[in-house]
Amino acid sequence: MSYLVFALTKGRLAGAAIKMLADIGVACAEMSERSRKLIFVNEEQQLKIFLAKADDVPTYVEYGAADIGVSGADSLLEEGRNLYEALDLGFGECRMVVAGPPETAEKMRRVNNIRVSTKYPNIAARHFYEKRRQTAEIVKLNGSVELGPIVGLSDVIVDIVESGSTLKENGLVVLEDVCVISARLVVNRVSMKTEYGRITDIIRRLKERRGF
Ligand code: PRP
Repeated sequence: MSYLVFALTKGRLAGAAIKMLADIGVACAEMSERSRKLIFVNEEQQLKIFLAKADDVPTYVEYGAADIGVSGADSLLEEGRNLYEALDLGFGECRMVVAGPPETAEKMRRVNNIRVSTKYPNIAARHFYEKRRQTAEIVKLNGSVELGPIVGLSDVIVDIVESGSTLKENGLVVLEDVCVISARLVVNRVSMKTEYGRITDIIRRLKERRGF
């Protein structure tokens, strides 16, 4: 039997993902979201679990370095990888929105060439070009995106909102919804065939845990 490898997302999804897997008996000793160790092994069950940056999880799964991934829908939409999306896990729920200073609501309606800063350039481009049919200049940032409109880099942002406190504390408001986000279980397309039994058993146990 070969190792079944899981890629989990570091950061806000990590705790819930580790707990979810532990609840169905998928766990490795010494595993914790706070550890600096990158990969954990359970020899008895032939499992490996590692934690990776959010947008890298779909990459590890597509290339088969991990058989199964727990990834936010934001990373999946942004990366557009060729994966089997097996399950909406029902945690990590938040919204992808267009946000900005309240006065940009009018600008969004009237001005065609709006500048958007975001960690999600593909999602932002699809929203502005295909849904709004509006010309927009998309500027990629790697974090603290809310700074964009505050320091005059952009008119608006496309970003995730969970509690809403980052927007509020920075004087920004939601101008438009883009989509709803949650954590998803994704599977490598080849692994889905070669490890069919083990993977479908995991999906079944996760569904039972959620009461599907
Ligand atoms: C995310 C997101 C927002 C914030 C939203 O950033 O990009 O900035 O969280 O959460 P809230 O609505 O609960 O305030 P994250 O904390 O992941 O850090 P980053 O800005 O460095 O990407």
